[in-house]
Amino acid sequence: MERIETAEALRERMGHWRRAGERIALVPTMGNLHAGHLTLVDCARERADRVVASVFVNPTQFGPGEDFAVYPRTPEADCAALAERGVDLAFLPTVAVMYPGGVPGAVRVEVGGPLTADLCGASRPGHFGGVATVVTKLFNLVQPDVAVFGQKDYQQLAVIRALVHELAMPIDIVGVPTRREADGLALSSRNQYLDPEQRARAPLIHAALSDSAAALRAGARDHAAIEADATARLAAAGFGVEYVRFVRPDDLQTPQGDESRLVLLVAARLGSTRLIDNIEVKISE
Ligand code: PAF
Repeated sequence: MERIETAEALRERMGHWRRAGERIALVPTMGNLHAGHLTLVDCARERADRVVASVFVNPTQFGPGEDFAVYPRTPEADCAALAERGVDLAFLPTVAVMYPGGVPGAVRVEVGGPLTADLCGASRPGHFGGVATVVTKLFNLVQPDVAVFGQKDYQQLAVIRALVHELAMPIDIVGVPTRREADGLALSSRNQYLDPEQRARAPLIHAALSDSAAALRAGARDHAAIEADATARLAAAGFGVEYVRFVRPDDLQTPQGDESRLVLLVAARLGSTRLIDNIEVKISE
């Protein structure tokens, strides 16, 4: 596996592969890779001749007081895992490479409107602008045919789909189902912030989502009541619940009642650790 840190070396390698007619997949990550990330790599591998994975902790998607400074950085272990998984190229840029004009920089990409106004966008102002900006830069550098993201970050995936659609980027965006621990907890680099007692409680998020989905499938139609039940259950277990919300999968807006599919999204804190998760629900007639 090649390891590249500059934009120039990356462009040269990409140009070489493109001229050879090779299809390129990109897996953008912030590193500290776990089995969930490696599933993204496997998905990319199936869809392209060459797989590029980026490892970059993007400063502009963290708000003041968030965990940018302490976010786990494990580049050597990441590169070993990527190489073992068959990645062709790992791109590990510095902040100066990604933000040549400094941070935050004068150029910023924003996906505005209802897609980013609510849910994580409400509690993390500026977060999706930071994501859209860095993802646009990565797309411009790599110019992939396909890019792969995890469905755990459901709103992020919707924002990236909107970004690509609105800016007419010829990139196929693929979402990959969430990998979970045996007890249901969604894999996340932030799980390691949990102390043992919090870790034992954390799977309750998935349990609450699963039970809410089961209620909907069984015919319950009062979304607000199901959301309130799940919220109360999590709050009683000591979670600081930010939101538990049924939305439409495509635009993340409030359901109108005629949907055949919904997604239930949750964000909740255990101590200072913010966890997100979601479950898609197919509603039978
Ligand atoms: O999902 C992530 O790890 C990050 O938000 C991403 C997409 C790599 C952008 O920094």
